[in-house]
Amino acid sequence: MFILLLGAPGAGKGTQGALLARRLGLPKITTGDLLRAAVSAGTPLGREAKRHMDQGKLVPDTIILGLIKGQLDAPEANGGAILDGFPRTAAQAELVDRTLAERGQRLTHVLLLDVSEEELIRRLAARAGTEGRADDSPETVRTRLQVYRRDTAPLVAHYAQRGAVHRVPATGTVEQVANEIQRVVG
Ligand code: AP5
Ligand code: MG
Repeated sequence: MFILLLGAPGAGKGTQGALLARRLGLPKITTGDLLRAAVSAGTPLGREAKRHMDQGKLVPDTIILGLIKGQLDAPEANGGAILDGFPRTAAQAELVDRTLAERGQRLTHVLLLDVSEEELIRRLAARAGTEGRADDSPETVRTRLQVYRRDTAPLVAHYAQRGAVHRVPATGTVEQVANEIQRVVG
């Protein structure tokens, strides 16, 4: 099973992805977490990524494509994975499709976590107060939402063409959303 979690910043990809990964015993691949780890470690990749992340912009595909490829090719991901936070651009989607196709696999589920923009802003503002993630400031959140609409939302149409997108209303409690996902994924 390869399950893609699509959705705007704050939609709950990380939260639901963790629950789903545990329930299905699959690894969760999260580009945001990998990038934040690289930033903390101060690697060259991390230093370059930080410049973009702090502004709420996407880290360029020149950096991300190699990262994604490495994760998908890792032995742990041979039998399936939860994809959280990528693909986010057309080029990333092509790479994911191609990498899986080369080994006779494909995305089995594309889940679109659907949350109103008002609620997204509320969630990220709440997290800014508790966790202090560098990119949760109101101005950066605005940029992240714009970037999502411009670069990532079009992927919904890309996957819908194959009839593979399940829209999950994701404004309820964490448990309600998890139940809805379980209903779709089985
Ligand atoms: P990334 O880390 O992917 O962040 P994001 O998608 O912008 O947003 P979040 O991770 O904040 O949201 P989420 O949907 O995971 O929700 P969560 O479960 O955390 O990316 C960060 C940056 O890294 C990007 O801006 C970019 O610069 C770079 N990057 C990453 N991937 C990239 C890629 N592929 N290409 C290029 N650049 C890339 O929940 C949010 C909050 O809401 C939490 O506090 C949570 O507790 C709460 N919450 C969750 N569910 C509920 C609920 N049902 N009810 C109430 N609260 C809830
Ligand atoms: Mg996340």
